[in-house]
Amino acid sequence: MMHILQSPQNWKRTLAAIAVIGLMCTCRNGLGPALLAAELTTIATSIDKPEQAIIQESLASHVKKMFAEMSEDGRQGYRVLTENAYLQPDFDSKVLDQLEEGDWKLPFPDAKEISKRDATLRAFGISPRHDDPSKPLQYVVQRDPEADKQSFVMNCFACHGGNTLGTTFPGSPNTTYALESFTEQVRRVKLKNKIKLGHMDLGSMFMPLGSTVGSSNAVMFGVALMSFRDKDLNVLTNAPASMTHHDMDAPPWWHFSRKTHMYIDGFADKGHKGLMQFMLVRQNGPEKFRAWAADFEKVYQFISQVKPPKYPLPIDDSLAKKGEAIFNESCSSCHGTYGSNSEYPELNIPIDEVGTDQARWESLTPAYRKHYGDSWFADYGGQATYDSPEGYTAPPLDGIWASAPYFHNGSVPTLWHVLHPKERPEIWRRVEQGLDTKRIGFVFENVSEIPRRISSFDRRWYFDTKAFGKSASGHLYPESLAEDEKSALLEYLKTL
Ligand code: HEC
Ligand code: HEC
Repeated sequence: MMHILQSPQNWKRTLAAIAVIGLMCTCRNGLGPALLAAELTTIATSIDKPEQAIIQESLASHVKKMFAEMSEDGRQGYRVLTENAYLQPDFDSKVLDQLEEGDWKLPFPDAKEISKRDATLRAFGISPRHDDPSKPLQYVVQRDPEADKQSFVMNCFACHGGNTLGTTFPGSPNTTYALESFTEQVRRVKLKNKIKLGHMDLGSMFMPLGSTVGSSNAVMFGVALMSFRDKDLNVLTNAPASMTHHDMDAPPWWHFSRKTHMYIDGFADKGHKGLMQFMLVRQNGPEKFRAWAADFEKVYQFISQVKPPKYPLPIDDSLAKKGEAIFNESCSSCHGTYGSNSEYPELNIPIDEVGTDQARWESLTPAYRKHYGDSWFADYGGQATYDSPEGYTAPPLDGIWASAPYFHNGSVPTLWHVLHPKERPEIWRRVEQGLDTKRIGFVFENVSEIPRRISSFDRRWYFDTKAFGKSASGHLYPESLAEDEKSALLEYLKTL
């Protein structure tokens, strides 16, 4: 699944694609009341098991508390993301009406009493805002004054906020976002009805968006868009860099405040300007970035105040205490310590040593990293950017129980499987919305092969670790531990 764009024809096609992909907008319409036809339900309550209800309630109250304790700037950052559109609309309510006819549903039980509109949106990973369930978290809704309809503009929460074990959680990875499937279906409706295609509809014809639900080729969107800019962000007519497309699982934003550098290889110093890369479509000149920078200072504040949730079910304290000693012995040199005197070393581990999938590490070239580091995004070299990180940075493990699937490509469904490298499933599919409370992570099924005659929508729910960029190999550190040590360690990981 490697797409390398290098022939002259491909350059032209990619130029067209790049012009249309990306998060941007010029408009900032006032929002009307009653935006969606149907009310979205706040929390999916389909999972009857009492412990899943406890998890959902606890996550919902965590989100409420997080906002209550947030600074005013942080709250404004949330409003910036949910109410200001920095991109052109992706679709409108009339397209949604038509999509509903497809009877789209999540492939596992969802909220019990939900409208068709809700079911359609949720099938693609679009969930209601906790603070205003009539609007989705992942798209800014605009009222179209001329036509009797609402338009929807993608925002950062498409990948960075969504359904976490049945609860909408801004800042937690959106594990049910089906970007490629959604774009495919929206385009189908638009073509059928002769509606003008948008930037995602067109862009996805040239660039893969993500072959597994919950993960995306987002990093390569950034590389593609940046290859048309000089360091001041003026638009150039360069040929795009050759690209190795691959999918990644978005990290939870609650790690952000622990880090000095962003991304799995830690190549970019943290800063609000760097968060704006996705708005790099050709129509946005450098002056727009400068004008929007103040908004993104607020977004930065918001991201810095996203907090990891606490494990809400009973924990065996004495077992966890044993696990803590094992963790401090075997894991904390890379992952840090937790509790009152927590420390995070932010170590970059050579790629061959960590041994996890290499596609992400290889796909960002030193030349690309340098181009980014010399640009406005990184204060023209004023920020510490690393051209050649040796491998991946060991992430903090706060709230790790709630951020399945694991590793940067989302290849491992539970923590138990992180601790048991030989048992990791080769092809797996999530089958419930809730938490596997024994192995901590997704409830999934293991399959020997992906059924042949299924729709692309269904196929993208399978994770195939044999596909390019999706390997579940490496990180063999737990192998030296005995089984009872692993059980203790798993109990301790719940407490982080
Ligand atoms: C299409 C999915 C997608 C969208 C939309 C998206 N991101 Fe991301 N984001 C990702 C992925 C995937 C990564 C992991 C990249 C990596 O580590 O190389 C990431 C990483 C990040 C990180 C680094 C976190 C860390 O701990 O290192 C931040 C911060 C971030 N994104 C902010 C944003 C903001 C702000 C927006 C909106 C302007 C946005 N993202 C839009 C997918 C997305
Ligand atoms: C030598 C450094 C090192 C040691 C020791 C180490 N890890 Fe890691 N760990 C990493 C790196 C690097 C990653 C990121 C790998 C990736 O995403 O491809 C990682 C990823 C993880 C993840 C997935 C995080 C996520 O958000 O997806 C978990 C869980 C984890 N480690 C647990 C452990 C445990 C438990 C131990 C001790 C048995 C341990 N690690 C020991 C370096 C280390």
